[in-house]
Amino acid sequence: MSRPADLDTVRDSYDRVADNYVDMIAATDLGDIRLQPWLRAAMDVFADAVKDLGPVLDVGCGPGTITAYLAERGLDVSGVDLSPRMISHARRLHPQCRFEVSSSTELDLEDASYGGLMGWWSLFNLPRDVLPQVLSSFARALVPGGQVIVATHVGDGERIRTEAYGGVPVRWTTHLWRPEQLVTLLDEAGLAVSAELRLPGWGEIGPGVVLVAQR
Ligand SMILES: C[S@@+](CC[C@H](N)C(=O)[O-])C[C@H]1O[C@@H](n2cnc3c(N)ncnc32)[C@H](O)[C@@H]1O
Repeated sequence: MSRPADLDTVRDSYDRVADNYVDMIAATDLGDIRLQPWLRAAMDVFADAVKDLGPVLDVGCGPGTITAYLAERGLDVSGVDLSPRMISHARRLHPQCRFEVSSSTELDLEDASYGGLMGWWSLFNLPRDVLPQVLSSFARALVPGGQVIVATHVGDGERIRTEAYGGVPVRWTTHLWRPEQLVTLLDEAGLAVSAELRLPGWGEIGPGVVLVAQR
């Protein structure tokens, strides 16, 4: 798997915004699917589909909000994130769950060992040539019938972010994707798309998409 050239910069940036990100989740409806009915519905269907298939890994789990939501629903779920600061928040806020620091590009996933894998607003920093490699690694790690759920920002091209979550200085690239491009990438990775939920932009946040696909 290729290592993104900006991986260390992206990690440092998320370390810097982690405290504000946690405050934002506590203070607003952004980031907590309990308060966003369509996102919650998609996650609930995913949860029902994977529950009896095997463990679930929340890749790019941030402070573990969704990991904990799925654990409450009875799933055997754990989380990994690039940012040590995000993971320290996740462990503090959700001590009942397991969390580790790792990049999606450095996971050593055993073949056919997971019922579900998640890239929930956490794959958009991956360079365009790296995302297909990560999706292929997800496909290999799933049991037959296992599911992937991906949520990401929609559009063309790249957005260079220099500040985020309340004016914190960051340096990362958001790679925008059109839904049909993602369907093709998932298909090429051996994952058949079973659902696509398009989200209009709201506030400062542009349009998004949730895709569910099955090995
Ligand atoms: C917008 S946050 C979303 C966090 C969480 N999934 C949620 O919905 O609250 C993006 C997360 O992706 C993580 N991330 C970015 N690049 C990553 C990578 N290569 N591997 C693992 N995590 C990554 C960041 O550290 C950050 O916690």
